[in-house]
Amino acid sequence: MEIFKTKAELGAYLKPLKDLGKKVALVPTMGALHNGHISLIKLAQQNADIIICSIFVNPTQFTDPKDLEKYPRPIEHDLAMLNEAGCNAVFMPDVTEMYPKQESWHIDLGNAEFLLEGEFRKGHYQGVTQIVKKLFDAVKPDVAMFGQKDFQQVLMIKNMLAYFKLPIKIITCPIIREDDGLAMSSRNIHLSADDRIHALVLSASLKFVEDHFNDYSLKELEAKAKAFYVGVPDVELDYFTIANGETLEPAKSKDENNLVALVAAKVGSTRLIDNTIIKQA
Ligand code: PAJ
Repeated sequence: MEIFKTKAELGAYLKPLKDLGKKVALVPTMGALHNGHISLIKLAQQNADIIICSIFVNPTQFTDPKDLEKYPRPIEHDLAMLNEAGCNAVFMPDVTEMYPKQESWHIDLGNAEFLLEGEFRKGHYQGVTQIVKKLFDAVKPDVAMFGQKDFQQVLMIKNMLAYFKLPIKIITCPIIREDDGLAMSSRNIHLSADDRIHALVLSASLKFVEDHFNDYSLKELEAKAKAFYVGVPDVELDYFTIANGETLEPAKSKDENNLVALVAAKVGSTRLIDNTIIKQA
């Protein structure tokens, strides 16, 4: 497996492969890899010839400096996992390589930017799309893999692609969960043993909505899902919503073609998100 720290080295590696007509997939990550990330690598292998994984903890998408500081960076472990998965090359630039000078970035991502995560993490999706655009420019992939785990992120990246008219295919990969239902996340290592148990309320409440979608109205489903959180120690619900999967506005009717239940909650000091697609057109 090749490891590159600069865009120039990465470009020089990719040029002859692209000249040969090889299809390139990019899997952007911030490291602290788990099986969710590896599932993206595996799906990439089914959709391309050369798989590039980027590892870059992107400062511009963090709204809380403490969160950035404590973001886990187990690089040796990450490289071993990627090697084992058969990833072809890793791009792990430092901050000055991606942000050589002060720059401003603001693009129109549509109203959905300001809902849900956008409300709790102001400017987050400007930072996400800024770095993903830079990574797309560096790799110029045919396809890029993103996880449904970050449902709103996928939507924002698709809006960014449309904004710049980039010819890149986005593949959304299913959420990989622990055996007990907890969605895998790099942040799960911050959960204490008790938090880890309390965190199961997220996937349990989503599963309830999935299983009982036909039994109740939207309002009742939301109320019953929110009731899961009452009395769970150290869990603070930011939102639980059944939304339209395209606009992220609260769903008005169960007959809408795209419906997704999304949740965010603080468990101990760790903020977790999860979702489930109820209906997709
Ligand atoms: P990160 O949180 O490292 O996630 C990298 C990719 O892995 C994202 O597309 C995310 O949705 C996916 N992923 C995370 N947990 C998953 C799970 N349990 N199952 C399936 N896929 C999962 O998302 C980011 O990094 C950054 O915002 C990034 C896009 C790299 C830009 O900096």
